[in-house]
Amino acid sequence: MCGIIAYTGKQQAAPILTAGLKQLEYRGYDSAGITVSSRKRLRTWKSAGKLTALQNQLPDSINSNCGIGHTRWATHGAPTDQNAHPHLDQNQTISLVHNGIIENIDTLRKSALEAGATLVSETDTEVLVQLLAIAIKKHSLTLLQALRQLLKQGVIGTYGIAAISFDQPDTIVLARSGSPVIIGVGDGEMLAASDLSALSRHTREVVHLDDGELAELTPAGFEVTTMEAHRTDKTPMMVDGNPDQYDKGGHTHYLYREIFDQPKTLARTLSGRLDTRFNTTKLGGLNLQPSDLLKLKRVKILGCGSALYAGLAGANMIENLSRIPADAEAAAEFRYRNPIIEPETLYIALSQSGETFDTLAAIREIQRKGGFVLGIVNSVGSTIAREVNGGIYMHAGPEVSVASTKAYTSMLGVLALLAILLGRTRDISPQRGAQLLQELDSVPGKISAVLTEEPQIKAIAETYSHAHSAFFVGRTTAYPVALEGAQKLKEISYIHAEAYPASELKHGPLALVTAETPCIIVLPESDLLAKSVGSLEEIKARGAPVIAITDSDNKRISQLADHVIRTPPADPLVQGLIMGVALQLFAYHSAVTLGRDVDQPRNLAKSVTVE
Ligand code: AGP
Repeated sequence: MCGIIAYTGKQQAAPILTAGLKQLEYRGYDSAGITVSSRKRLRTWKSAGKLTALQNQLPDSINSNCGIGHTRWATHGAPTDQNAHPHLDQNQTISLVHNGIIENIDTLRKSALEAGATLVSETDTEVLVQLLAIAIKKHSLTLLQALRQLLKQGVIGTYGIAAISFDQPDTIVLARSGSPVIIGVGDGEMLAASDLSALSRHTREVVHLDDGELAELTPAGFEVTTMEAHRTDKTPMMVDGNPDQYDKGGHTHYLYREIFDQPKTLARTLSGRLDTRFNTTKLGGLNLQPSDLLKLKRVKILGCGSALYAGLAGANMIENLSRIPADAEAAAEFRYRNPIIEPETLYIALSQSGETFDTLAAIREIQRKGGFVLGIVNSVGSTIAREVNGGIYMHAGPEVSVASTKAYTSMLGVLALLAILLGRTRDISPQRGAQLLQELDSVPGKISAVLTEEPQIKAIAETYSHAHSAFFVGRTTAYPVALEGAQKLKEISYIHAEAYPASELKHGPLALVTAETPCIIVLPESDLLAKSVGSLEEIKARGAPVIAITDSDNKRISQLADHVIRTPPADPLVQGLIMGVALQLFAYHSAVTLGRDVDQPRNLAKSVTVE
């Protein structure tokens, strides 16, 4: 979604702003722009389309040490030059960029027009900047005072804001409500961004604004204040700022790098968490004692998209090992159905970005009703990570491609660790615990083995890339794998894909299964294998090409399936982590064959910070 970058200091601002926007590209956007302050005036360039369109407009040198930049993902108004951010008031005295959505925009627009503003865009953001300029002029306020007054008195909605004004040429003003804003602390320079990636080349010292906070940055420092103008005296935290984590590592796509990084990233997720002494796992940050774990009566996992699918897999693992009823639900649906919050339920929020609006809103609803939420998050210091009652970081490192791969696998890794911990506290024996630790520990190596199957998977993907529709099927533990496989294929290749429990096919979807619909069947060796092979027979009888993903040597599978992708044998509990990688490669090569924009698929954003 939209991205913000801001800089004030001793260096030239424009190259820092455009490089920051480049880092933010992965979030998804359809226009970009910058404003710099220079000799008591504001200079703005903006353009619909990709960043190169903006860069082509910029003069060779722009002399300015302070400015703001933005990548916009259209909400209010089409992706045009006019609607691109930054927005300025009609006298070009203030420039402002904004992430989020203002809900009472009609009322605010009316006030701006009545006060004499002329609006040139369809955006909610332009209304804010016009109202700011009117207030500054009328009441002789500083930019910070005017912004505080406007937000406090009149604005309903979500926002992350950065603004500059022509008469405070080295000052940047920030505000946050529901949309991330992070300050980057430098030496004689200060930055701000909506995402750590845009700060990583400049500093590792950061300050996260909380909702309801504003900040003023000058090259000399920063001050964070509340809506009531009280100082909050925040101290910077250090983050892992290795900028190389944000490059493609010599590959054509971030997605490819992220798929192939998984043996390493999953090993990092597991590192230091396998407790072979007691045949259990260690998870610092849970904020739950063994006695609390013993009291649990239910586990409810919440997330969106791939995080939800990881949650479904995690619920299977937890219920299976701990015998605590567990399920997963879409965070947005949960929050709006007036859920019953129970004191002995462990609520788990899953999120790569830690900023997904619907997940955050569900967390707040649970906490408002007195529930305990455990966050499983990748992005260190993100809003969800800061707001939950206990947390486990995934340590997968920054995920840049819009489609989740390594973070999804690490989510499953953390859920497996948690399932073992709950299981060992409640139900499973030390022997089974030891066996599970070994299984989990061996997964990164088994993922490496799946990655060596790339040539075969690529050839299969090329064979079926012409398909208009594909089915993914699996049973119990394999069903979430099928869901995520279908999700990956539709997201990046735009091939219509549906996932079903294999047992459901005959209750409807079989009507759509023909020689034109490749079916991908996930067949882990398990008690249910014979039944799943029965589903494979049903599909084959309708003439559909079948791609089987299996660790079983069942003869019938090779007789029936058109292609068999073999994965190393593993406990069904962890097989999803391994088989999922084969499906990621299948989606990746389908997308590449079709010439899709693999890292930034159409209509999608990396982090969905609006409802
Ligand atoms: C994954 O490939 C998707 N792009 C998307 O479904 C994502 O998983 C979802 O938006 C949740 O994001 P989060 O993990 O950052 O909360």
